[in-house]
Amino acid sequence: MKDFISIHDLSARQVEEILNLAADLKDKQKNKVKHEYLWAKSLAMIFEKPSTRTRVSFEVGMWQLGGLAINLDQEAIGLGTRESVGDVARTLSRFADAILIRTFAHDKVSELAKYASVPVINALSDLLHPCQALADVFTVIEKKGRDLKGLKMAYIGDGNNVCHSLMSASAKVGINLTVATPRGYEPNEKIVDQAFADARKAGIEIDILNDPVIAAQGADVIYTDVWTSMGQEAESRKRKAEFRDFQINSALVGLAKPDYIFMHCLPAHRGEEVTDQVIDGPNSVVFDQAENRLHVQKAILVKLLGDKQLALYLENR
Ligand code: CP
Ligand code: NVA
Repeated sequence: MKDFISIHDLSARQVEEILNLAADLKDKQKNKVKHEYLWAKSLAMIFEKPSTRTRVSFEVGMWQLGGLAINLDQEAIGLGTRESVGDVARTLSRFADAILIRTFAHDKVSELAKYASVPVINALSDLLHPCQALADVFTVIEKKGRDLKGLKMAYIGDGNNVCHSLMSASAKVGINLTVATPRGYEPNEKIVDQAFADARKAGIEIDILNDPVIAAQGADVIYTDVWTSMGQEAESRKRKAEFRDFQINSALVGLAKPDYIFMHCLPAHRGEEVTDQVIDGPNSVVFDQAENRLHVQKAILVKLLGDKQLALYLENR
C-alpha cells in the first residue's frame, strides 16, 4: 500500500490490520506506553478546505508517534495556481515522508499521488473521506463488538463523500448498510458498484433507498452527515427543503433498536440533519467517534511509513 486514497483500494486484510493496530495504539496511548514508531518522520498537510478534527488529529498523531506534521494552507501553497500539482508533489516528496491533502476535486488527490514519490493520504475530497470511514467502523466495532453478523447500520442523509467511504468500509469489514437519501442525492454510481462488489465478497448487504423510515427501522447504528457539504454552500436553502424528512430526530430514532448508537462525522449543523436531543442524547457516540480519528490515523501512518521501523522497534525492545 503506497497511498491511502480510497478504502476500496485496500484488501479486507489490510483494513483489519489497520484496525487492529489502531486498537493497540489506542491502548498504548491510554496506558501511556512510550513508543516512537515514526521517529523523525514528517508529514506535509495541504488543506484547501477548513478542518478541525482532521488537522488536529493528524498533527497530534504525528507528534505522539515521534514525528512532525507541517500545515500548509491553500493560500500559502497555491496548489495548481502558484505551482503545478506535479511540482508541489515532487518538491514535498524531497522534504517530507508523506503528504496529506484535503481538497475539492478528487482528481487532484490522484494527481498528487501520481507525482509524489512518498505516500499520499486523502484527508477528504468531494468524492471520498476514507480516514473518517475507517475510524467509523473502528467505533462501531468498539461499541458493538467484533461479531458484526446481523448488525444493521443506517446512513440517512446526503449520498456524499462520507457516505461513499462508509459504504466501502462497511463492505470491507462486513457490516450491513442501508443508505437512505432524498431522490436526486443518491451516492455516486461508480462508488455504489464498487461497494456492491466488495459487499458480495464479504457476504453482506448494502441497500440504497429513498425512505428514511425503512432505513431507521431496527437499526443498530444510525449515521448522518451535513446536508450541505463544504463547497456546496450556494445550494444550502434548496437542500434544507429537500432533506427536511431526513432529519434524525426522536421520532426517527424511536424506530431503531433501543440500544442503537448515533454517529455523525462532525461538524454537525444542529437543528438541520440532527436535533440536539439526539446528538446530545445517551445513544450518541459522536465524540468517541471523533477521538478514534486520532488512533486510526496513527495506525494508517504507521502502516504507510513505519512498518519496517515498527518491526525493528518491536524486535529490539
Ligand atoms: N470529520 C471531519 O473530517 O472533521 P473536520 O472537517 O473538522 O476535519
Ligand atoms: N460531507 C462533509 C464532511 C465534513 C467532514 C463535507 O464534505 O463538508
